[in-house]
Amino acid sequence: MKLAEKVIIVTGASKGIGKEIASLLASNGAKVIVNYANSTAEADDVVASIVKNGGTATAIKADVSQREQVTQLFNKAIETYGKVDVLVNNAGVMISKKIKDNTQDDFNKQFDVNVKGIFNTLQEADSKLADNGNIINISSSTVKLMFPTYALYSASKAAVEQMTRVFSKEIGRGISVNALAPGATETELFLKGKSQETIDKLSAMNAFNRLAKPIDIAKVVLFLASDDSKWISGQVIGANGALV
Ligand SMILES: NC(=O)c1ccc[n+]([C@@H]2O[C@H](COP(=O)([O-])OP(=O)(O)OC[C@H]3O[C@@H](n4cnc5c(N)ncnc54)[C@H](OP(=O)(O)O)[C@@H]3O)[C@@H](O)[C@H]2O)c1
Repeated sequence: MKLAEKVIIVTGASKGIGKEIASLLASNGAKVIVNYANSTAEADDVVASIVKNGGTATAIKADVSQREQVTQLFNKAIETYGKVDVLVNNAGVMISKKIKDNTQDDFNKQFDVNVKGIFNTLQEADSKLADNGNIINISSSTVKLMFPTYALYSASKAAVEQMTRVFSKEIGRGISVNALAPGATETELFLKGKSQETIDKLSAMNAFNRLAKPIDIAKVVLFLASDDSKWISGQVIGANGALV
């Protein structure tokens, strides 16, 4: 029980990597806030499964790109469990198109959720996260690649990594702040619209010749959310099977 007594917000925890993170942290003793924006039934299922396994969790709807909803997310979390120790900024969207084909809406959506979303939660965390807490911002290994069609998504995650570095020196109070950059991981966000041929090609780019499962990423978050990782701060940790 590495996380006993810790209260943790996981944004975008109704599906994919966030769902796995919420479940693993709860099974290690954390009280988990399962945040989501649209998928109420899925978020309720994540909570039900955690509770069934003897854990503690509650779902809170909030669109991270909306400042007031993020304020409410933190206030409700503190009302429910008395404090917030760890923030996992996992909510994210990806629209994969060549630069020439992206619309203004495509640009705004990715920067609103991926960049402004984290800006909003970090502002709340600055005064509301408990002393000696941990913040984990989910980036992407595409930041280090030159994948066609990933320019805007990768640019948004590069912004996440730079905010991580700077905020780690601003927040103080013993709080560590890191980014975690997964490679290709088997979720709706990654699989949507890709042919088997593309999936195989991308799987072959890492040293293990497979996609990551969400649990591969969640296990690294477990370490970063625990006191064992306290001396790591301001870093971007790759979890990508030697992709890059
Ligand atoms: N899968 C990969 O290969 C991969 C690789 C590198 C990095 N990542 C990053 O890992 C994170 C999780 O990705 P995933 O693959 O698990 O994606 P996913 O399966 O599409 O799940 C995304 C989650 O984010 C939530 N979300 C979306 N917009 C939101 C908003 N405005 N406010 C709050 N929650 C919101 C969704 O909830 P609702 O359905 O309720 O909106 C959902 O729970 C993202 O930051 C992504 O960029 C993924």
